[in-house]
Amino acid sequence: MLTDSSEQLNNLDSAIQPKETLDDASLDNTLRPQSFLEYVGQEKVKKNLGILIGAAKKRKEQIEHVLLYGPAGLGKTTLANIIAKELGVSIKTTSGPAIERVGDFGSILTNLQDGDILFIDEIHRLNKTIEEVLYPAMEDFKLDIVIGKGPSARTIQLDLPKFTLIGATTKLGSLSNPLRNRFGAIHRLEFYETDEIKNILRRSGRILEVPMEEDGLSEIAKCARATPRVANRLLKRVRDFSQIKNYSTIDSVKAREALEMIDVDHIGLEPADKHILRTIIEKFAGGPVGLSTIAAATSEEIKTIEDVYEPYLLQIGFLARTPRGRIATELAYKHLGVDYESMNNYKNTKIQKI
Ligand SMILES: Nc1ncnc2c1ncn2[C@@H]1O[C@H](COP(=O)(O)OP(=O)(O)O)[C@@H](O)[C@H]1O
Ligand SMILES: [Mg+2]
Repeated sequence: MLTDSSEQLNNLDSAIQPKETLDDASLDNTLRPQSFLEYVGQEKVKKNLGILIGAAKKRKEQIEHVLLYGPAGLGKTTLANIIAKELGVSIKTTSGPAIERVGDFGSILTNLQDGDILFIDEIHRLNKTIEEVLYPAMEDFKLDIVIGKGPSARTIQLDLPKFTLIGATTKLGSLSNPLRNRFGAIHRLEFYETDEIKNILRRSGRILEVPMEEDGLSEIAKCARATPRVANRLLKRVRDFSQIKNYSTIDSVKAREALEMIDVDHIGLEPADKHILRTIIEKFAGGPVGLSTIAAATSEEIKTIEDVYEPYLLQIGFLARTPRGRIATELAYKHLGVDYESMNNYKNTKIQKI
């Protein structure tokens, strides 16, 4: 039987967990905006892409290759799909780790049509051999195929359709230079303003038929880690909660009640965030401490910390990155109710003694 606390943990997991469950994936799809008009915020990116699309349509050419980067859940996949819709072309979706063999990749490329979009998610995780096939494909729409083995091996070159590659990554820094240089347009997605998240929630509330008061929207928005995917997941949890409680509409008090149930605090931090911060402060005197050491000490995976927890903690200035590792900032101490001065005095005396 589930106890209260394990139930809460389950809920919490699905509010923020990095792996997409079927439920989350279908939530993403149901709520995914279909046009630039519905896509809230990211004005600069939308404007630039609009120009790119308009010009390509006029010239009746494919658009140049586009790279979208930024933390998970900010709308990269959504944007790739909107670009395809606006251009009226089809989009084939795959991801870096899913393409294992050159042969498979070759057949993906040869099966595209002129103008089609190939969307490669997590493009920083493409393996090197595939990357090398991609270079001539992106540059000259050519595919080099090696036939035979040993001394009799020869290379033939196939013409590929004039496709557009859209790559998405959470880690621009992990992309090799030659690959990055082959993109004509590189756009960074930013964290969202609270008002933008509110607009996203308002739209999602309509689609999911959750009766929301303005202050209820605000309460969820400020806990959404400036991230649309998190906002939508929280909204769904709040909806479930209010249905059980038979609430007819959700105001800020009811929203907070629901968020408390799933252990989301008033700025959107969850127990795992606090555990990471507390570990840095209490076990490593506030840092600097390396990511792998934090991962080992908190029993979280490095990738989870890097992709799920850390980006927002960096964004709100609770964590700082230094060449020697992560540091918990004074803001983090304050939020956790730990006395910054005395912890740091203590640290300094310890250092002096050594
Ligand atoms: N600008 C936006 N406006 C409205 N909803 C958005 C926006 N960006 C993302 N979303 C919502 O958040 C979900 C996650 O977006 P997604 O494109 O999958 O993020 P990413 O690919 O960057 O991880 C989408 O299903 C969509 O419902
Ligand atoms: Mg995505």
